[in-house]
Amino acid sequence: MLVGRRLAIGALSSAVDAAIGGAGGVVLLAGEAGMGKTALASEAVAYAKARGAETVWGTCWEGDGAPGFWPWIQVVRALALDGGDAGEGVLAELTGVTEERSGGVLGDESALRFRTYDMAATYVRRRAAQRPLVVVIDDLHWADASSLRLLVFLARQLHDAAALVIGTYRDVEVMVGDHPARPLLAELAGQAELIRLTGLTADEVGQLIEKVCGERPQAPLIQAVHARTAGNPFFAQQIVRLLAAQGVPLDRALVTGIPPAVGDVLARRLARLPGTVVDLLAVASVVGRRFPIAMVAAIAGAPAAMAVPLADSAVRAAVLEQDEPGHLRFSHDLFRDVLYDGLPAARRSALHLSVAGLLEQHTGVAATAAEIAYHRSVAWPLGDRDRAVTALIDAAQEATARTAFDEAAAHLRRAVEVAGGATAVDLAVLCEYGDALRRAGHGEDAQAALLGAAARARATGEVGLFARAAFGAHRVATLTDSSRSGVIALLQEALAAFDAEGTVGGPPARWLLSASLARELADGPHRDLPRAVALASAAVNGARAADDAGVLAYALFALADVRWEPGTATERLGIAGDLAAAAGAAHETELVLEAHLCRLVALLELGDPAFTIELGTFTRLAERARYR
Ligand SMILES: Nc1ncnc2c1ncn2[C@@H]1O[C@H](COP(=O)(O)OP(=O)(O)OP(=O)(O)O)[C@@H](O)[C@H]1O
Ligand SMILES: [Mg+2]
Repeated sequence: MLVGRRLAIGALSSAVDAAIGGAGGVVLLAGEAGMGKTALASEAVAYAKARGAETVWGTCWEGDGAPGFWPWIQVVRALALDGGDAGEGVLAELTGVTEERSGGVLGDESALRFRTYDMAATYVRRRAAQRPLVVVIDDLHWADASSLRLLVFLARQLHDAAALVIGTYRDVEVMVGDHPARPLLAELAGQAELIRLTGLTADEVGQLIEKVCGERPQAPLIQAVHARTAGNPFFAQQIVRLLAAQGVPLDRALVTGIPPAVGDVLARRLARLPGTVVDLLAVASVVGRRFPIAMVAAIAGAPAAMAVPLADSAVRAAVLEQDEPGHLRFSHDLFRDVLYDGLPAARRSALHLSVAGLLEQHTGVAATAAEIAYHRSVAWPLGDRDRAVTALIDAAQEATARTAFDEAAAHLRRAVEVAGGATAVDLAVLCEYGDALRRAGHGEDAQAALLGAAARARATGEVGLFARAAFGAHRVATLTDSSRSGVIALLQEALAAFDAEGTVGGPPARWLLSASLARELADGPHRDLPRAVALASAAVNGARAADDAGVLAYALFALADVRWEPGTATERLGIAGDLAAAAGAAHETELVLEAHLCRLVALLELGDPAFTIELGTFTRLAERARYR
């Protein structure tokens, strides 16, 4: 039973009741570490269960190790255990094994992202329609951006569903510095009920002490603990456990000797354990909050037969808790933090490297690429630089396939750092980094990366990569307000480089460049329409000859763009038909949308009543694609 928290419990119970009655929503529990967010969420879950609701739990993971959508993967996985519904499909979507995710030349990020969110949200709503549902997403301060965006997306759709989502986060941490989750949590707060947990009162701390020690403490002790902890239940509980362990009668216990920071409190509790146990725990702290005991034993170089009893003593000391078979978890993250911080940096790196090595031997788990990348990159400069960079690239690819673009960009940023910076990293990786930044919506940074890549490719004479950087720069420029003359010069230079190479017909990338240049020349201060039309037409012919549907779609898109003027409606109707076919074949959803737009405008110009049908189709597709 919890102490105090009457208002919060009341608000949570009402929210559960409302959700069961079909008026769902999102409740956010905010407060510093140890304030009781998880405890309250558990209380709400117990209440919801008692009222017949289905309840599931997802927890965010600290650091970059977990894959995007991780808390949602846990939620859907738990729901899908019942079987017999669409859960496996949603899970496949979230973990990114769906076929057409291979990217293509243009990415089509927003449409794919919408689809992922829509599938997950529809699934949650459908499950709630069968039986009221309460979902807890714990520790949102560690959530990846994609998971938070999905929550924002879902929040808009719960008012008429029998589903309640309870999210918890450490508001104090989110407010510090430039925390990545802050803008999304702020957006979410607009659509959620926010419950901020502050410290317990002195009286409540007294009740808590009584619960822990089994006897009513004296007022001075209550005051001392309350003052030391500011009513944080975790800190209070820990301090009192330490006092109790000292064996001094409570009425004579001196709280003054206890260091104010809970880190010290935890360190003292740990110090009571045998050194061998603490060493094992320190190794475990590198693996994660939750860890397989066999892996920790292997890294610590201890036989499992020795490690298991050591871990058992940590469980008895309430530092660890049992998890699923073969796994343990720290009873609180603060324990893990204290142990981790206490490790000398060199030892920490060596341990991360060992974890990566072990994970590499057991590939195939959904989380593996991101986890390996995390451990290898944290271990660096220890370990093999190339392997660290490769692991990060693998993790980025996996994230891109899942449309977790922010995560992909973060992996590649780290890859560039580990490789020695933008001037040292492999050029193809730098281009990929630029594309990833563009997909994640960071136009300026994307432009900088791609221009840097172009400069290097120019210096080394790598024509293909120069073309890729130039095309990327053009794509970014269409999203930002940046000056076009630089992009035009780049595209022209890249085309000239292809011509200088003298390849007959040119590779497909050449036609991507022609089409891009055509679009750049179609309007603005550098307008040269005859040349734009010639370039776009050449691109269409070239792409057809090269039999590349993706490039052909982009070339047709450019042609429609440059021919967009009065009197060409019939011609554009034809282009739109070809564009729809090519874009469909190449799975370029964004260009399929452009085909509909082109067709709809042409029909309108021709006074064709089919225009209204086309408008309906376009609006529906555009609304999806616009969701970011
Ligand atoms: N109102 C309460 N009464 C009694 N015990 C409490 C209360 N609130 C929290 N606790 C206990 O304090 C400890 C910390 O609580 P909890 O894990 O819920 O904190 P939290 O806010 O989720 O922290 P974090 O953000 O680090 O996860 C737990 O052992 C919990 O049982
Ligand atoms: Mg918690």
